[in-house]
Formats: sequence, structure tokens, C-alpha cells
Amino acid sequence: MAKIYPIGGGKGGVGKSFITASLGALIAKWGKKVVIIDLDLGASNLHTLLGMQSPNIGLNSFLDKTVQDLESAAVSTSIPNLFLISSSHCYMEIANLFYAHKVKIIEAIKKLPFDYVFLDLGPGTNFNMLDFFLTSEEGILICTPEPTSIENSFRFIKTIYYRKLKQMIKKHIFNSLQKDFSEDAVKPGTTPSDIIEIALKHDPEKEGHLRSQLSKFKFKFIFNQFRNNLDATLGNQFETICNRHFYSFFEFLGYVSFDGRIQDAIFSKTLYVHRYPHTQSAADLKNIAAKIT
Ligand SMILES: Nc1ncnc2c1ncn2[C@@H]1O[C@H](COP(=O)(O)OP(=O)(O)OP(=O)(O)O)[C@@H](O)[C@H]1O
Ligand SMILES: [Mg+2]
Repeated sequence: MAKIYPIGGGKGGVGKSFITASLGALIAKWGKKVVIIDLDLGASNLHTLLGMQSPNIGLNSFLDKTVQDLESAAVSTSIPNLFLISSSHCYMEIANLFYAHKVKIIEAIKKLPFDYVFLDLGPGTNFNMLDFFLTSEEGILICTPEPTSIENSFRFIKTIYYRKLKQMIKKHIFNSLQKDFSEDAVKPGTTPSDIIEIALKHDPEKEGHLRSQLSKFKFKFIFNQFRNNLDATLGNQFETICNRHFYSFFEFLGYVSFDGRIQDAIFSKTLYVHRYPHTQSAADLKNIAAKIT
């Protein structure tokens, strides 16, 4: 079965797509069969990062049944073993995705016959995006060292918890909690245990079940655009804080250094790790890819 890694994080422009393409390319180069799926519906751009034209088949072909299964919607890239399922011809925005379509995509992702599946998610925390992040228990969060990005990452994890609780507790109980949740659960001062407390207040027997479900998550995170004048303990500090405050396991995968040549590579439609394989950022990405595999 494939290892599935959804790549997300609350903030836009932090480098989710760049890191998805880079990790996919590196791991494919090491001989693994990899597919990267562009799930940033309405703003898809993974094909451009891979230096490709917008493919004719993709997620839309799977949804409109032009192809029989999701695997057939994958196109090969210039890198052997690396495949792309594009959504560049999906004309709906992620927020407008039909529930049945979302379920169909998630179920099909879980059956893909690849070694590694990476999901490139869009910014924000709309429910469809969160459900794609919950396709696997090993989601990877991308953030930058800026305080605003770190704040957004905490908020993102809290929103994931909120979403997971919605899936786990009875609908009528959840609906009666909606007011508490929407006003309290994701506001800045609220801790994850507050979210669980709110849920347990209404359904105390669920405590063991809720905790065991949340403990299955093994979140990973990467600090991108890291500059060497910054505090090098930031990643480990974030890991410690998350492991202390959330009921899941958090692993810091590493920093990816800031490098202006990343933008040059994107402009020239070439993959950075191929064009500049001997840079610090390329080494950082290789270390992270090695940790994942
Ligand atoms: N390590 C880095 N150093 C320098 N620039 C970077 C780095 N990582 C990403 N960038 C720049 O940030 C830009 C945004 O990256 P990317 O498109 O991957 O972000 P994203 O999180 O996918 O954005 P969105 O939320 O809009 O999908 C890139 O065009 C690139 O120029
Ligand atoms: Mg992106």
C-alpha cells in the first residue's frame, strides 16, 4: 500500500507546492514509484513547477469518467517514476467540490498502486481541504519561521482536530456544540484540550475513544524559507510545544533554507533540485526526503 502524505498548512505561499514537487522528484529519482496530486482546485500549478504544459487528462477525467480509475488520470513527467495527477482542467473551486466527488477522490487515493502519494493542498482551512489532509494520519505541515505562519499552523492543527471531532461524535451532539466550537474552539487563546473539553462536556463517555483516535496522528512539519540568522532551535521548540499541547505525535522533519534561485528555477520552468543540486536548500530537501523514506 502507498504511503500517503498530504502537504498542507494554513498559510498561502509558504512553499507547499514547491516542496511537494521537490520531494516527489527526489524520491522518484531514488527508484520509488511516486505520484503527486494537485488538490489545490481552482489554483492548480504543480504542472508548471514540473516544467510541463497543463496535461489533457487529470482529476477532471476521473470525475467525468473519461478514464476508468484515478491511476489512469496520472501522466508521466520528465522524471522517470514520477507521475502527476493534475487538476488544471477542474473548473470548480475547492470550496464548491461536491461531497460525493470528494469522497470518490479520497477513496481512490487510498487505493493508488504507487510507493508514495503526495497531495499538494491549497491554503486556508475550508472543510474540503481539511478532509483531504485527513486522507492519511501522516499529514505534513509547511510553515515559515514568521510568527504569523507559526500562529496559522497552530490554528490549522486545531481546525483539523475540530474537523476530526465532527467526524467522530454523533451528528446531533456536534450540532448542539456548533455554537461553542465556532466561537471558542479555533480562536487564538483556545488550547486543543479546550476543544476536547467542550466535546466531552456533552459526551463524557467518548473521552477514551477521542483520545485514542487523536493519538493515531503522526503529524510532520517542515520550516521553509529558513535564513541562517534565525534561531536554529525553532523547529525543535515547535515540536516540543505541539507534543505537549496536542494529543498527537509531532515530528520536525527539518528546515529548507531560503534561496532566491528557487524563484529563478520556477521562472525558467525547471525543477530547482535538478538545476541547483549542490545548494544548501537542495541538501535540506534531500535530508527531508530521506527521513520520509
Ligand atoms: N525555500 C525557499 N526559498 C526562497 N523562495 C521560496 C522557497 N520556497 C518557496 N519559495 C518561493 O515561494 C513561492 C511560493 O511557493 P509555492 O507556490 O510552493 O507556495 P504554496 O504554499 O504552494 O502557495 P499556495 O498556498 O498559493 O498554493 C515560490 O514561487 C517561490 O518563489
Ligand atoms: Mg501551492
